[in-house]
Amino acid sequence: MLGIETSCDETAAAVVAGDGTILSSVVLSQLDDHAPYGGVVPEIAARAHLHHLDGLVRRALDQSGVGLDGLDGVAATAGPGLIGGVMVGVMTAKAICAVRGLPFIAVNHLEGHALTARLTDGVAFPYLLLLVSGGHCQLLAVEGVGRYRRLGTTIDDAVGEAFDKSAKLLGLGYPGGPLMEKAAQAARDPGRFDLPVPMKGRPDCDFSFSGLKTAVRRHAETLGGAPAPEDVADLAAAFHRAVGDSLVDRCGRAIGRFRALHPDGRALVVAGGVAANRYLRARLSALAADTGLDFVAPPLGLCTDNAAMIAWAGVERLRLGLTDPLDFAPRPRWPL
Ligand code: KG4
Ligand code: ZN
Repeated sequence: MLGIETSCDETAAAVVAGDGTILSSVVLSQLDDHAPYGGVVPEIAARAHLHHLDGLVRRALDQSGVGLDGLDGVAATAGPGLIGGVMVGVMTAKAICAVRGLPFIAVNHLEGHALTARLTDGVAFPYLLLLVSGGHCQLLAVEGVGRYRRLGTTIDDAVGEAFDKSAKLLGLGYPGGPLMEKAAQAARDPGRFDLPVPMKGRPDCDFSFSGLKTAVRRHAETLGGAPAPEDVADLAAAFHRAVGDSLVDRCGRAIGRFRALHPDGRALVVAGGVAANRYLRARLSALAADTGLDFVAPPLGLCTDNAAMIAWAGVERLRLGLTDPLDFAPRPRWPL
């Protein structure tokens, strides 16, 4: 299966075999194109996808060793995401399918993240999924391909957004997640700042991160215009602790709900760009151990956006006969 991902600021192509072997996976980050603007500029992203995708698809096909002749289908992210980029990926996939007579599979980007643990670890349904990325923060009971029961979601910002905005407030730049993580690792006094733990103790499984971002702003203001690196490091550590406490509290609630729905469920899975954060992985791993669940987190390169996860979702869908017509319209908004 050829997979194509163009929904945000990574242009990616990959070929994945039916048994989950990743035969090739190439990812081109547009970071340098967007960094001067402090965030992703949709128009620039769409043009860059158009410019690079053909070459990346060729590289993925060449490296895979199967080439066009060995494909059984083409899967592309068809939403949610920045529509200009999504259209580039979808049209490319449709063109290949039309010329070669291959089935086309329109993949929901979130489903790509959600099924990655089956590609990497063969996790069986049902499992509890914490999906944490730049645009999404959800707890889902994953019951099968295309069968997701939402247990909780964010009422304001996504957690990746909180990382990105807080990093900007602290003058760390873009993208915020990895830069915040690096800053926190240099903290000398991680207990120095006390930040609120969003939603802690609430009976539902929802999230909220805009208050935390505001708290970071207030502390940053007390530190003056350009805070010293050691202050930024301590504040970044406090931010990690508050996010970790909140995720553990929310996931703890969701585990109770998940168990009531699926007494046979065995795993807590984390996915999405924020799942690349080592501190948060360790916190969630400890929670899983405490509650008797297996903890599954994809390798770092398969947490952030990539096309192997899209190809794999295509494999799972094609196996069930879930293909899409060539007039399938891209969906900028597409809840799971
Ligand atoms: O899944 P993803 O690559 O794209 C979306 O679908 O949104 O996630 C990107 C998000 C960004 O907000 C980025 O700052 C965050 O994931 N992220 C991280 C880390 N690496 C990426 N957040 C925390 N720690 C990281 N190491
Ligand atoms: Zn993503």
